[in-house]
Amino acid sequence: MYEVYGIIGDPVSHSLSPIMHNLAFRELGIKAVYGAFRVSPHNLSKAIEGVKALNIKGLSVTIPHKETIMEYLDEIDPVALKIGAVNTVLNKEGTLMGYNTDWIGVIKAFEKKNIEIKNKKAVLIGAGGASKAIIYALIKKEIAEIEVYNRTFEKAKMLEEKFKILAKPWQELKNAYGDIIIQGTSVGLKSWETPVQEEVISRFKVAVDIVYFPLKTKFLTLAEKYGQIIDGLQILLYQGVEQFKIWTGVLPPIEIMEKAIYEEIKKLEKNFFHESKRNKAFKEF
Ligand code: ATR
Repeated sequence: MYEVYGIIGDPVSHSLSPIMHNLAFRELGIKAVYGAFRVSPHNLSKAIEGVKALNIKGLSVTIPHKETIMEYLDEIDPVALKIGAVNTVLNKEGTLMGYNTDWIGVIKAFEKKNIEIKNKKAVLIGAGGASKAIIYALIKKEIAEIEVYNRTFEKAKMLEEKFKILAKPWQELKNAYGDIIIQGTSVGLKSWETPVQEEVISRFKVAVDIVYFPLKTKFLTLAEKYGQIIDGLQILLYQGVEQFKIWTGVLPPIEIMEKAIYEEIKKLEKNFFHESKRNKAFKEF
């Protein structure tokens, strides 16, 4: 009998998680399949009931459910509680347990490139869903200082209080400096835009983008001239690797998964580029 896993979110149709996890199951000879389930916010509680009723073994959780799912789970891992978001659910004999692996994804992506976090100063742009796990990862790795800039200042302030970091007004982003700059907003997704100008980017030796479509965003393209970059797909890959370990207790074949998702993104980019050229909506890309 095959066991069932899947991702819940809205939207989910372009998720790379099914490719990554199905490949890992197949490579390891694990009898399991992974699907994508589009679940709108008003259906979340019913979906969770469904997970139990159908004995779905594990879930990846994405936008917009990472926070709201917490109230429907039976147990939440202390780290996920601290972060305030769940991206992984394990169904342990009917008990739904929530975890967060996004922060590990961030740490592994830094480690892979031998980039030190300890005692550095980070500038984070954005205070949305991704930022909490990023901040947790940086603190865990003993960063010296984090400044967060967000278009809506109140949301940056909330992170300031939660994690004891520094919220800065959006207008001051032009004066930002430090060691590591992290683009944590949705700006640059399917567009050729950056929330930070080149002059600011040039002051940093390391740049990270959570956006992975396009893979090399405008932000990363500029940043590459001045230092090392980490693309969003690395974070996606390693949060997925950790999910797989939680579900199965086994380390998945990382390089194979990595190759598959990079190839898939390249394909999607090509299609998107052709489409966009046709409707002239994406001239610079
Ligand atoms: P949510 O916060 O609803 O979970 P998200 O997609 O996780 O949404 O986060 C979106 C992030 O991108 C936020 O930090 C958002 O800024 P606001 O809090 O001001 O909305 C940021 N963002 C989205 N579009 C942006 C833009 N055009 N310029 C600057 N920041 C933007």
